[in-house]
Amino acid sequence: MHNVRKIVDDLYWVGANDRRLTLFENIHPIPRGVSYNSYLLLDKKTVLFDTVDWSVARHLIENIEYLLDGRELDYLVINHMEPDHAASIEEITLRYPKVTVISTEKAFYLMHQFGFKLENIKKEEVKEGDTKKFGKHEVVFIEAPMVHWPEAMVTLDTTNGVLFSADAFGSFISLDGKLFNDEVNFDRDWIDEARRYYTNIVGKYGPHVQHLLKKAAGAPITTFCPLHGPVWRTDLGYLLDKYDKWSRYEPEEKGIVLAYASMYGNTEAAADLLASKLVQKGITNIKMYDVSSTHVSYLISDVFKYSHLILACPTYNLGIYPVMHNFIMDMKALNLQKRTVAILENGSWACKSGSLIQEIFETELKDMNVLNEKVTLTSATNSVNVDEMDALVDALVESFKK
Ligand SMILES: Cc1cc2nc3c(=O)[nH]c(=O)nc-3n(C[C@H](O)[C@H](O)[C@H](O)COP(=O)(O)O)c2cc1C
Ligand SMILES: [Fe+2]
Ligand SMILES: [Fe+2]
Repeated sequence: MHNVRKIVDDLYWVGANDRRLTLFENIHPIPRGVSYNSYLLLDKKTVLFDTVDWSVARHLIENIEYLLDGRELDYLVINHMEPDHAASIEEITLRYPKVTVISTEKAFYLMHQFGFKLENIKKEEVKEGDTKKFGKHEVVFIEAPMVHWPEAMVTLDTTNGVLFSADAFGSFISLDGKLFNDEVNFDRDWIDEARRYYTNIVGKYGPHVQHLLKKAAGAPITTFCPLHGPVWRTDLGYLLDKYDKWSRYEPEEKGIVLAYASMYGNTEAAADLLASKLVQKGITNIKMYDVSSTHVSYLISDVFKYSHLILACPTYNLGIYPVMHNFIMDMKALNLQKRTVAILENGSWACKSGSLIQEIFETELKDMNVLNEKVTLTSATNSVNVDEMDALVDALVESFKK
């Protein structure tokens, strides 16, 4: 049975939800599911904007069959070739062999590499600024390389200001019947998952997102139709502001992510004491995480959100505790910048973790301010450590004033 929703005149959501997938990209947990959005324009010509993941292809087919009501599908616009959206391209062309696929040169090459048999299907290659009229509606194609793959583009319907924004402005979480941003409490229920989606999936490509935001700035956009999560028809500035901050690696809030690793509990206890001292000095915006029991995608999301980061970490075989190392490498891979970092290290015979962490932050990440006030445990917290902690807390309080 079909399950479609009207977005504006002539335009319908024809996507589907997936609540069975545990790991997005087989990495990121999605306990609240995800939606794969696809959109159908019924004009003089009929146009499908992107497809869906193979797991929900059946729903897409039923939805477009219902809306087309016997009409042909004339065009399939592919904004993004990643399989969570593009896996059903071949299926669509098998069912609608008269369709013309519109996409970028790179995307057509990817279709070939993925093995789609489109030899007998009409194709129209588009590039930056090309336009196309489907009847009443005219669209312009805007290249969006690396948001989130190199072939990506977005498509703006200049007739009504609807932007088919590909992965940009998307979010984890299934739609559960609520399609529009004004049908959910985004700031309460969605923003954390939208941030986790953006920072882990597209976070690395801040400059590319900035480039796209600048191109979009002059356009009369009324609606974002992303490939995941709600359609935005009000308050676009709210999300634009978040994207602007995230893509410039500017924190949203003054606050501390206190991420610790601990095998026997001594580093954890020290982290607890440090947190308590911070709160007593007036810094209460602290998020504390055990890196071993928190999926790194949540840690990444919060280090993009907050201004400060404390890493508390034992030495492990003369190195950084592996799970913490993985977190740090993820921050580096995702290009995190402009944070103030404090270190609490621990080691029973040859403590190395702190200096190694400091070196990575100072040489491999950009614009990181590592505080000189370090805490060095030699197994469990001693009275010297308490003094070190007090000095570190003072340094953090000072840094919060800036
Ligand atoms: C497998 C393993 C390797 C370790 N390697 C080192 C090391 O190279 N240098 C060091 O000083 N301590 C090393 N340690 C000791 C821990 O870093 C130290 O005992 C620390 O206090 C543990 O903190 P925790 O109680 O928070 O787990 C190692 C411990 C384990 C289990
Ligand atoms: Fe993608
Ligand atoms: Fe996607």
